[in-house]
Amino acid sequence: MQQPSFHALLYGGDYNPDQWTEDVWLADMRLMKLAHVTMVSINIFSWALLEPQPGIYHFAQLDRIMNMLAQHDIAADLATATASPPTWMSRLYPTMLPVTRDGTRMTHGSRQHYCPNGRDYRRKATALVQRLAQRYAGHPALSMWHINNEYGCHVSQCYCDTCAVAFRVWLQQRYQTLDTLNYAWWTNFWSQRYYDWQDILPPRLSPAQNNPGQVLDYWRFMSDSLLACYRLEADILRSVTPHVPLTTNLMVAFKPVDGFSWASHMDIISFDMYPANTTPAWETALSHDLMRSLKGGRPHLVMEQSPSQVNWMAQNPQKRPGHMRLQSMQALAHGADGVMFFQWRQSKAGAEMFHSAVVAHDSSEHGRIFRQVAQLGGELHHLSPHILGSRINAQAAILMDWHNWWAVEYLPGPSDRLRYWEQIKAHYHALHSLQVAVDIIQPASDLSQYRLIIAPLLYMLRPQVANNLQHFVAQGGTLLVTFFSGIVDQNNHVVLGGYPAELRTLLGIHVEEFDPFTPEMSNELAIQEEPLQGTYPCTLWGELIHLEGAQALGVFTSDYYANQPALTMHSFGQGRAYYLATQPSDELLVRLARLLCQQANVAPVLQSPEGVEVTKRVRADGRAVYFLLNHTEQAQQVTLPMGCFTSLLDEKRVEGSVEIAAVGVIVLLSETAEGGFEQYL
Ligand code: GLA
Ligand code: ZN
Repeated sequence: MQQPSFHALLYGGDYNPDQWTEDVWLADMRLMKLAHVTMVSINIFSWALLEPQPGIYHFAQLDRIMNMLAQHDIAADLATATASPPTWMSRLYPTMLPVTRDGTRMTHGSRQHYCPNGRDYRRKATALVQRLAQRYAGHPALSMWHINNEYGCHVSQCYCDTCAVAFRVWLQQRYQTLDTLNYAWWTNFWSQRYYDWQDILPPRLSPAQNNPGQVLDYWRFMSDSLLACYRLEADILRSVTPHVPLTTNLMVAFKPVDGFSWASHMDIISFDMYPANTTPAWETALSHDLMRSLKGGRPHLVMEQSPSQVNWMAQNPQKRPGHMRLQSMQALAHGADGVMFFQWRQSKAGAEMFHSAVVAHDSSEHGRIFRQVAQLGGELHHLSPHILGSRINAQAAILMDWHNWWAVEYLPGPSDRLRYWEQIKAHYHALHSLQVAVDIIQPASDLSQYRLIIAPLLYMLRPQVANNLQHFVAQGGTLLVTFFSGIVDQNNHVVLGGYPAELRTLLGIHVEEFDPFTPEMSNELAIQEEPLQGTYPCTLWGELIHLEGAQALGVFTSDYYANQPALTMHSFGQGRAYYLATQPSDELLVRLARLLCQQANVAPVLQSPEGVEVTKRVRADGRAVYFLLNHTEQAQQVTLPMGCFTSLLDEKRVEGSVEIAAVGVIVLLSETAEGGFEQYL
């Protein structure tokens, strides 16, 4: 595994010179220098040009591009070009094309038209990667490998016959025997028992709901299949260029790709960030916090963001002035060590011709978008030595598990309204509004650095999770678990004996019934004592709960479980375990988050006015860098902690308080060390 060490924050974007004549390349080099570009991603969709006929490779143009970048001291994030196979491949290897759940085979003509288990696809992809690796191994421009592109973006699941065979192999490795598989999938139900491995199929279109165990395993298998494609390429690249870091651009909380299982195979986590103009700032913050957390807090990279408008929404408004800069600074504020764009030069034609780019159709360096990109490039260049490699230290974490996501959103009842990521978002939003730093981590991971853990909708408890949470609370941690948690094991089997099964002792409750609401239903949660005193509307879900050691902090006000617990607290060991049995208003979520932070001794980074986000990165020398991000359209005043700071963007010395312009950013370096940070690797 290569620990990436870059000398500067990464800045640049997807660069497709092979769509342009070489006089345009020279213009690009000049403009890149103006914009302080340090790295570009090249070759992402170039397979058809590199291999115009089977086994005939043309690298001359890519050689010239790589040489040009080296001459201009611009690093190449060299893509392996395997995301879009040449058209002749689908003629020669038609079974390589993916098949939908209803049996339709797709065709070429856009991109990503391959089945991840396709033997010919894998063979041809690895042959290409082998040649690329050998050819550019010692090239001075080669700085990072960009494997494929957005795995699973368009084809996240394939249901073809090749996948059926590969699925059986995957299942044999997982279960060894048909008996074990039959047990895991509970196939005595509806006469589904398998007597021959060959009878097992992908969960294709069938008359009624497919077997939930089979569907869950198919999500697992497909994430693994895409990962296997990544790993095939990664293995080649590691053996030929062991010193060059590897990445692929993830798609944030993308359900088909289990980010945690992928992260250990990546040297740097990169992802594509496309907030709409209406996406709230806290949601983008969450994307960064998840991406940063995938690799234990190591700096991540925004591989793509749009300089202004995109082209794939129904209507694509421009980003308003200042917002791209603010979003870029927010990325750094949450631990990123680079922000890149899709794309450098706007396409003249094709499916993305109206997607914005750094260099627009007028090719001018005087337009709004180019000037903003160039200005930001200058700022990043200036910030680079001060923040590169610094880390966020979070004491609060939210648990997230892709397997739970797959299972809880393919339920045979009780509700089709449960959305796992929405539940994570709701609790993140509350913590973010308090300016608390948050990591997003796996339930079985080491919790010892945290004081507060929130586990929303943890329907599936995989092995070790219950023990892990129990140990965390016993040692003094504060835990909040929310409704419909602790229901099934990793096979999606209900753990019998009363919900929430393995969490029952820890939470000190017994959930006798859960009661999903229709959109028309609601209830209220009443709390008599301060600090949460009040009555709050609640939606989505109710439960009938009995106390088994916990105390009720709040109760439902109506229906057949009126006056029964809705919010409980159980003292366990040296800590406290809370349980929330419904989805209350945001107001209660924020008040509850504040209470939990107080009890867990989790402090906000700073107090700030509404709409001003504050984060802190800590450097290896112990000095803190504060980012103050004004997401409002008015200037805002922020009171600073004790001490003197250098305002890095304007080199002023400040103390006491600062004013941040509308949509503005201030980055402050503390003059004294606040203590090093333990997780620095
Ligand atoms: C994705 C892809 C890019 C491009 C952009 C457009 O992120 O990786 O190739 O299509 O979307 O927004
Ligand atoms: Zn397939």
